Amino acid sequence: MTATSTLQVRLRATTYEASNILGFELVPLDPATSLPAFTAGAHIDLHLPGGLRRSYSLLNDPQETHRYRIGVNLDAQSRGGSRHMHEQIRTGTVLTIGTPRNLFAMDESAPFNVFIAGGIGITPLLSMIARSQALGTPWRLHYAARTRSHAGFLPMLASYQGQSEADVRLNFDQEPGGQMLDLNAVIADMPAGAHVYACGPAPLLAAYEQATACLPNGRVHREYFAAKELAATDGSYTVTLARSQRTLQISSGQTLLAGLLAIGVEPPFSCQQGICGTCEVKVLEGTPDHRDMVLTDAEKAANDRMMVCCSGAKGERLVLDL
Ligand code: FES
Repeated sequence: MTATSTLQVRLRATTYEASNILGFELVPLDPATSLPAFTAGAHIDLHLPGGLRRSYSLLNDPQETHRYRIGVNLDAQSRGGSRHMHEQIRTGTVLTIGTPRNLFAMDESAPFNVFIAGGIGITPLLSMIARSQALGTPWRLHYAARTRSHAGFLPMLASYQGQSEADVRLNFDQEPGGQMLDLNAVIADMPAGAHVYACGPAPLLAAYEQATACLPNGRVHREYFAAKELAATDGSYTVTLARSQRTLQISSGQTLLAGLLAIGVEPPFSCQQGICGTCEVKVLEGTPDHRDMVLTDAEKAANDRMMVCCSGAKGERLVLDL
């Protein structure tokens, strides 16, 4: 994985999608040009004022090259990103974004796709649904939200009604008679050989990991949009930057990224929660204390790269390719 390049786009339209969810349509500055292609499940990083960077999934059909569409949920715990998008940004604004990257790619050989969305977690799955349609792969969506008014992009889903590949099942647990989505039942009901993709809040994904524990790893896919583990800040260690020949001390209570920024070294970063993969750095020596949700277990075990926003060191020293 390498750092992405950036480009400028114009915010062409903002749409109300659901309670606390706005949709944004981003287009090239020159309408005669195309945007870099993306694959279903990809995301872009938005570069916001004050050095903020936030990752948002692309929700439109990957066949489209004239626009990117994202959905932004106003997060009650917003550290500035979603609040800025909901309250400050105006149609027509020029934004800097990273080119699309995909950490939640589809296996296009699957005979059937099951999608499980919680709230704003619907966004990457919308692009996957469009891709399934293009491939002619039958799919089923289980979409959980508190109420219908909290569920974004329902008109997009309604447009698939009557298509033979499509099966949309909505679950509103806070409506009269509603109950939580039964993930064990969802998994038990999957057609043979189906792949399953989930995106949503941490409790939904924790239940999903339990419900899918019986399935082969290769058929189970998920994307977190909030950290599952705390960043590693509990030990002090030395970090040597091989390329710049500098050494720094990370103290207890400090993240590795904070230590780097403090001495003026700024690797690319975005979410600062170990979920977007932007801050990946090669490890030349030492054993990282991995806390991210980007690397697979095998990649973590190789100890040759790490996410510096959240991961630390198991020993006293790391040497990084910085
Ligand atoms: S900045 Fe997103 S994983 Fe580190």
